[in-house]
Amino acid sequence: MSNYTPMIQQYLSIKAEYEDAFLFFRLGDFYELFFEDAKRASEVLELTLTGRDGGAKERIPMCGVPHHAADVYIGRLIEKGHKVALCEQVEDPSQAKGVVKREVVRVITPGTVMEEKMLAEKENNFLAAVTKREDHYAIATADLSTGEFYLTERSGSTMAVIDELAAFSPKEVLVPSPLGENESFVKEVQDRLGSILTSLQTEGLPSAAEMAAALDQQFPGCEEAYASPVLLEVAGLLHTYLQQTQKRAMAHMNRLERYDAGQYMILDTAARQNLELTTTLREGQKKGSLLWLLDQTATAMGSRLLKKWLDKPLLDQKRIEDRQGAIQAFVEDLLALEEIRDGLRGVYDLERLCARIAYGSANGRDLHALRKSLEAVPALKEKLAMTASPFLSQLAFGMDGCDDIVEQISSSIVEEPPLSIKEGSMIQEGYDHSLDELRTIQQEGRSWISQLEQRERQATGVRSLKVGFNKIFGYYIEVTRANLKLIPEDRYQRKQTLANAERFVTPELKERERQILTAEEKSVEMEYRLFVEVRESIAKEIARIQRLAEQVAQVDVLHSLAVVADRYHYVRPRIQSDDTLFIEGGRHPVVEAAVGERFISNDLLLDQKHRQVLLITGPNMAGKSTYMRQSALITLMAQMGSFVPVKQAVIGIVDRIFTRIGAADDLVGGRSTFMVEMDETRQALGQATSRSLILLDEVGRGTSTYDGMALAQAIVEYIHDHVGAKTLFSTHYHELTALAGDLDRVVNVNARCVEKDGEVVFLHKIEEGGADRSYGIHVAQLAGLPREVIQRAQEILHGLESTTRDEEMGLPTSHQLNLFQYEAAVTKEDSYSEGERKAMTSLRDWDVMNHTPLESLQFLQELQRSLKG
Ligand SMILES: Nc1ncnc2c1ncn2[C@@H]1O[C@H](COP(=O)(O)OP(=O)(O)O)[C@@H](O)[C@H]1O
Ligand SMILES: [Mg+2]
Repeated sequence: MSNYTPMIQQYLSIKAEYEDAFLFFRLGDFYELFFEDAKRASEVLELTLTGRDGGAKERIPMCGVPHHAADVYIGRLIEKGHKVALCEQVEDPSQAKGVVKREVVRVITPGTVMEEKMLAEKENNFLAAVTKREDHYAIATADLSTGEFYLTERSGSTMAVIDELAAFSPKEVLVPSPLGENESFVKEVQDRLGSILTSLQTEGLPSAAEMAAALDQQFPGCEEAYASPVLLEVAGLLHTYLQQTQKRAMAHMNRLERYDAGQYMILDTAARQNLELTTTLREGQKKGSLLWLLDQTATAMGSRLLKKWLDKPLLDQKRIEDRQGAIQAFVEDLLALEEIRDGLRGVYDLERLCARIAYGSANGRDLHALRKSLEAVPALKEKLAMTASPFLSQLAFGMDGCDDIVEQISSSIVEEPPLSIKEGSMIQEGYDHSLDELRTIQQEGRSWISQLEQRERQATGVRSLKVGFNKIFGYYIEVTRANLKLIPEDRYQRKQTLANAERFVTPELKERERQILTAEEKSVEMEYRLFVEVRESIAKEIARIQRLAEQVAQVDVLHSLAVVADRYHYVRPRIQSDDTLFIEGGRHPVVEAAVGERFISNDLLLDQKHRQVLLITGPNMAGKSTYMRQSALITLMAQMGSFVPVKQAVIGIVDRIFTRIGAADDLVGGRSTFMVEMDETRQALGQATSRSLILLDEVGRGTSTYDGMALAQAIVEYIHDHVGAKTLFSTHYHELTALAGDLDRVVNVNARCVEKDGEVVFLHKIEEGGADRSYGIHVAQLAGLPREVIQRAQEILHGLESTTRDEEMGLPTSHQLNLFQYEAAVTKEDSYSEGERKAMTSLRDWDVMNHTPLESLQFLQELQRSLKG
């Protein structure tokens, strides 16, 4: 090391403190990267790797980016999950003795991005922290770009923590050392959340008392929220990390909100994914999700809040009804809704504007946008106050128009400020006396100069005489060579000789020029100072603007839900605190939006006394999954406060929704194993209460028929006898319909199909009673299997059915194919050979829906071959 030049030594000592980040080392107009950083960055960013002599034998690998374009490169590194430490020159190089002093001024990480360009407008950018004491976890989440900070606790399994984290989709998760070294935890977080993990060594962290003091300063009056040691630890950890990376005041982060698990409906990751709340299962895109359908918000704040409402449906009847009342008022007065929409459109992203103001990165345009947004508030307030909803008028009443801030901005900032705050032209005339004086000097100087041309032309008689300006010589008087003789010898001082002209100056011209330039320089400086003053004084009022932002966001979400309710003819469900779930004419909101009138509505009745478990049978493609999902979505939307796609509905508040989808339906990449399915089912059974809603869609399908059927039956029995949760259980094991006879609160329904001209028609209508039979062969037909195969399969099936019917006494009245009975029949039946029996069994077990037509064809060919002997 000692061989290195002093600058490289400085680099190395700084780099040692930021090992996990790319160190952007400021050298004049460039940020340079050295050593390993340079090698890796040159690959990731496709930069040319060069070298630099650093005093040692070998040249040091180096690459760099111009400082004005650094944002783009930093953005790319962050997007790929890396961190960047920005190291600036913190003294004037011309004043420096020896190496210029440098310091890291900020560390940018995926969870602490502030740059507008690197943030998704409609999404939060959360950073989370998790700590653990015994079996107790604490979770803190913060969004630096909006100033939100939340705290909560969870006990029990890692899954509960991950589920909670998943609701925030954090970009980065902090874990202190003992937990951070727990490999299975780390792996789960990475696999399930896809966020980057930052593990922190606890040794270097401030003490509990220091953390408490820092939190107290950041969040005045919020001590209650972090009263327990584990909460203090996690909040302190997150806050410390923010401070250490940002190295500046974060005045916009001033509210700390603690919530408890019992405050909202719990949705685990599986439920969120299966119900396609924010992304679709297949493509993982927002388009096609419930959020996409419901999001008619006019502002980015509204969009972000809507997602929160979706992630955290309410349990409190009053709060749900408040929201319903607001939506109703809008739906019943569409004109007002339209006007409010227009009003909302005029409001920019107040949350992020506040953050940038507090952070010191807001420019003139941001302040102007703030002013425009605030100016839109009074009209909005007035409209809201006139609606029929007491909730909305209350909200309107509480809105602070922030007139003083509007006044402050409009008196100080011009109408069209430039992007840069270092080039002037942003402070309003009349705002500051000294600035006005400086501007007058410039104006007078310029007009003196512009009149100079006229005066000199007259005085000298040279009509072509010009006054000009260039960057090197400043102002000059230009006379063509032909006219030089007309200029008296000592009138001007010669400055520059051109091919056919001569340029001159006069002492007075130079003096004026000097005055203009100094005034210009001074006023640019002064404008910057005045701007920062205005920004800082607004920063003091940020809490008020933030409160307003929250209110506007709420109005926006309610407005969005009203727009959707009106567009798709949703109605207001009745909310109750009992165990009823009653839906008449329910539709799947997203499927309906795609197919329109063709969507067939369905009813649902669930309660704890008579209809606790609905066993839904019907062939593949009949609409079972859609029916189950729509029932859950309607419940969830109702508890968000939204109107729902039904003719009418009564929703008894549900505390959790579980969904488990049979392995073959689980489309989420790579996780379609039976083990996962069983693990999730276990959790549902373990955690559900009698107030929960469970959807089990073809659970048991991922294993062989017998296992699957046995498991399915055992699960239904367990839920019936021990859990008590309202349950929708779909199955293709028709044999299970017999359970309804044994278990009081299990009821059969089926997705009805009819046969028409030898083909199945799916009616998508759910009706009482078990399904007739599987229709699997018809689905094969639909899938395009050759006619011969279908006919032969029908013959075989027909043979099987008549055998069972002949052989068995006391058959169920429906013509379902009972596998147990069938098995019994074939073992008794001597007229079948061993080979034929085998063939029939494998035909029965062949899962047509989960094979390609070609596979099925090959299977049948094989079967035929074995029967022909
Ligand atoms: N009520 C309905 N009205 C119109 N189309 C429906 C309805 N229910 C389901 N579908 C359509 O039928 C197809 C199969 O539905 P799905 O629920 O997956 O059936 P299953 O789970 O019984 O195999 C889907 O393409 C779906 O869009
Ligand atoms: Mg299905």
